[in-house]
Amino acid sequence: METEGRVVMVSGANRGIGRAIAEACKVRGYKLSLGARQPETLQDLVSSDVLIQEYDAERSETAEAWMKATQARFGRLDALVNNAGVYISARIEDGEDADFDRLWRVNVKGPLKLIQLALPHLKAAGNGRIINLVSLAGKRVPSDDSAGYAMSKHAALALHHAARRVGWDHGVRATAVCPGLVATDMVAWAKVPRDEMIQPADLAELIATIMALPDHAVVAELAVNCRFEPTL
Ligand SMILES: NC(=O)c1ccc[n+]([C@@H]2O[C@H](COP(=O)([O-])OP(=O)(O)OC[C@H]3O[C@@H](n4cnc5c(N)ncnc54)[C@H](OP(=O)(O)O)[C@@H]3O)[C@@H](O)[C@H]2O)c1
Repeated sequence: METEGRVVMVSGANRGIGRAIAEACKVRGYKLSLGARQPETLQDLVSSDVLIQEYDAERSETAEAWMKATQARFGRLDALVNNAGVYISARIEDGEDADFDRLWRVNVKGPLKLIQLALPHLKAAGNGRIINLVSLAGKRVPSDDSAGYAMSKHAALALHHAARRVGWDHGVRATAVCPGLVATDMVAWAKVPRDEMIQPADLAELIATIMALPDHAVVAELAVNCRFEPTL
């Protein structure tokens, strides 16, 4: 599909995977609508084809304002990348209630709100795309017992498949991206050497390729490994 001039919203675009996706989309000629809790961290990307807006997944009014600003600037929406997320281990035996609640708000309710706001515009576009950054932790529970994170990502995968269903008849195609360890701040704690993790730019290339596929070549889920796992 021709991507020049298509409009994409990317949440959590200021660092890590979101930043890499924004850069990969820019190279392909997309107009960017970038959401971040601290918009000033994206000032180096400012141009007439780039809108930078405050977005906090825990404050739904910022999602509404971001969508309004996107429509006011570009008058359309072709793709939504639900990237913003938090990792908190929150184990069953000693996890804090507040942490389970925050994981739910940021990793599930945040993407849900953006999908709700985006769907009418993506349907109107006729060939809209949704990318949901899930995780391998949305498909199996990691060995570090991070139950809270895995629970939120399993729910995000369910949200993804529900969105895939409601968009399909309107040309909206959705992909859940489920990587293992990606070399970003989120996994600074991991013992795996950084250069043996998935690199954000490589993941962004995969995502940009998927976003440009035609309506009848669709990747529903993309599992990406950096090391061997027996079941995925
Ligand atoms: N890194 C991995 O190994 C890995 C593996 C599988 C899936 N993922 C998923 O990939 C996505 C991106 O992760 P990453 O590795 O790039 O993580 P990261 O480097 O920690 O970046 C997280 C991004 O999410 C934003 N964010 C966090 N809470 C937010 C909130 N309440 N509202 C809006 N934005 C918020 C952060 O903004 P601030 O800068 O303001 O904090 C930042 O832009 C996440 O959904 C994550 O779960 C990551």
